[in-house]
Amino acid sequence: MKYDGFLELLRHRRSIRRFKPDPIPDGYVEKIVEAARWAMSGGNGQPCEFIVVKDKNTKAKIVELTDKVDPLRWAMEKTRLEELRHPARAKPPSGHHGFKDAPVFIVVCGDPRTWQATVLCGPYLRGDGGPEGTFIMNMANAVQNLHLAAAALGLGSQWVSVNSAWQTSLGLLLGVPEGFIIPVVVPVGYPAYEPAPPYRRELEEIMHFEKYDWSKYRSPEDIYQFVINLRQRTRKHYTKFRINESNP
Ligand SMILES: Cc1cc2nc3c(=O)[nH]c(=O)nc-3n(C[C@H](O)[C@H](O)[C@H](O)COP(=O)(O)O)c2cc1C
Repeated sequence: MKYDGFLELLRHRRSIRRFKPDPIPDGYVEKIVEAARWAMSGGNGQPCEFIVVKDKNTKAKIVELTDKVDPLRWAMEKTRLEELRHPARAKPPSGHHGFKDAPVFIVVCGDPRTWQATVLCGPYLRGDGGPEGTFIMNMANAVQNLHLAAAALGLGSQWVSVNSAWQTSLGLLLGVPEGFIIPVVVPVGYPAYEPAPPYRRELEEIMHFEKYDWSKYRSPEDIYQFVINLRQRTRKHYTKFRINESNP
């Protein structure tokens, strides 16, 4: 496999937050989940399982669950300084969820008991952040593969985080076994807009050779400014996105 093509895929993949309702070709979902199956996991524990939701009513119920949590998200975000508020939560809930039209939702769930596949000392010596950390890293690797596979197939995808306020309801809705964790829902479909150019820190800012280069160390004030700049950069995108939402 060629590095250039691989990098092109990484650079090309973007979070998509509004979708066309058009169905995706048969077999694409299997290809996407197949990619996730090959993700790295601690001790090869492979905790992830994937619920493919295409049914309109079920998707609508999932959207409704996240919708109900929006006032809580907004109330909490308001407690931050204005310049630090995440653009997605910087305004009162609009009641519009761009991912609602995606033809497929891939609901990722996982069995935390699989941490036992890893070395015994790991969880006790907090390797990879302990059992919970290992489990979450394993799940995240699989989710990353889902997104990359979707991009490789010319599709858009979104990482919709599931939080504790709606995770239990989601589990009940989909009949997920008790004790499983559902960290993410991944809507997949054709993008309904062109995303703004991505931003990443420069290579020289994040690379160190042989030892940590302290000239690159960021003070608390630098980090604060970094987040503010990040917000300003992405707010434009979210504002444009919201305008598009109300004037589709
Ligand atoms: C752990 C994690 C949680 C995320 N949660 C959400 C989310 O709830 N909603 C969302 O739209 N994007 C979410 N994202 C996507 C990020 O916002 C996105 O990756 C980042 O802004 C960079 O943009 P890009 O994916 O287009 O490169 C999440 C990403 C990660 C890794």
